[in-house]
Amino acid sequence: MDLYEYQGRELFSRHGLPVLDGGVASTPEEARAIAERLGGRVVVKAQVKTGGRGKAGGVKLAESVDEAVARATEILGMDIKGHTVHKVMLTVTADIAEEYYLSYLLDRANRTFLCIASVAGGMEIEQVAEETPEKVAKVAIDATVGVDEAKAREIVEAAGFPLEVRDQVVAIAVKLWHAFVTEDATLVEVNPLAKTPDGRVLCLDAKVTLDDNAAIRHPDHEAMVDRSAVDPLEQRAKEKDLNYVKLDGEVGVIGNGAGLVMSTLDVVAYAGEEYGGVRPANFLDIGGGASAAVMANGLEIVLADPSVKSVFVNVFGGITACDEVANGILQALQLLADRGEEVTKPLVVRLDGNNAEAGRAILDGAANPLVQRVDTMDGAAKRAAELAAGK
Ligand SMILES: Nc1ncnc2c1ncn2[C@@H]1O[C@H](COP(=O)(O)OP(=O)(O)O)[C@@H](O)[C@H]1O
Ligand SMILES: [Mg+2]
Repeated sequence: MDLYEYQGRELFSRHGLPVLDGGVASTPEEARAIAERLGGRVVVKAQVKTGGRGKAGGVKLAESVDEAVARATEILGMDIKGHTVHKVMLTVTADIAEEYYLSYLLDRANRTFLCIASVAGGMEIEQVAEETPEKVAKVAIDATVGVDEAKAREIVEAAGFPLEVRDQVVAIAVKLWHAFVTEDATLVEVNPLAKTPDGRVLCLDAKVTLDDNAAIRHPDHEAMVDRSAVDPLEQRAKEKDLNYVKLDGEVGVIGNGAGLVMSTLDVVAYAGEEYGGVRPANFLDIGGGASAAVMANGLEIVLADPSVKSVFVNVFGGITACDEVANGILQALQLLADRGEEVTKPLVVRLDGNNAEAGRAILDGAANPLVQRVDTMDGAAKRAAELAAGK
């Protein structure tokens, strides 16, 4: 889960990192109250889960309460890279002498953790990394040792932090690592880590990604989930214990087993190239059981996606026999009809593995005009793509 900056800032603050006073507002009135409390000279910042807000006009300075309210009014409702701004954060304005960069992340490719640090931080950091990579230090971190003071000194030296801020940055690097580990984050990024003219070092931005797999260890993280930003279909699927991820295409996909579903997405995308770029509309793994009820729930979710034009049900019978799955599909269609959600989109079904013949015979016997049986995965993907393309 990615956090909003205001949530990341609170998390930083709990871990003793130097952040500035601020508050979050959803309306100009709330923004006014915060700006008044902070004394009027504030920065108004769009809260969206994407970077580059500054460049997109989502970070604005204000010299007075009225100006802060005006900026907040402009930014609320703004679209930043496809994200609508529903909240703004107002913080005290810092005078900035220098901008640095500091982050920890999980380096999957190298199977380690990585610290990235630079004294050339700020909004151009991507360009700096591209054009002058020598200005960006990368220091691998041994997970069993972590970042103690010695490691932090190594980071600070590798990045060439000015002598006068080294002690402060060392302390920040140790605390930031502590936050990274204790919160089970996969990314913590401070950009800019700013030096003020009077020599203080402050975290002026906070980008945090938490590891959802560790959610069970952090009951307090639940409160940071933004329900409004979760896809409504994904939310419904979650309530039904289904493993569903919404994608952008037109072919609904249902399969049993995550690996099979992943490869189904690939074959559908590949087959779809021939039909003007038809793509999978979702990932949905109904797991081992694949009972009629689970199949009905799965179909209901997939078919509720208005961009779905056809559905590919791809089942490899293992523990679950294909005849049970075939009955499950037919019962699911009946169940949906009974619920008043008559299915009108075509289904392409591929059954293979345990009791495949029996399963196919059941589908043939039912002769449901919406259900087409194709016995190979590639062939079924092609047919589903073809149907989605209206052919
Ligand atoms: N509290 C602040 N005081 C002064 N300047 C700020 C403050 N917060 C951000 N800025 C300036 O705005 C820039 C962009 O803000 P930032 O929070 O980093 O957003 P993003 O990374 O999404 O562009 C920063 O690089 C910094 O120069
Ligand atoms: Mg930033």
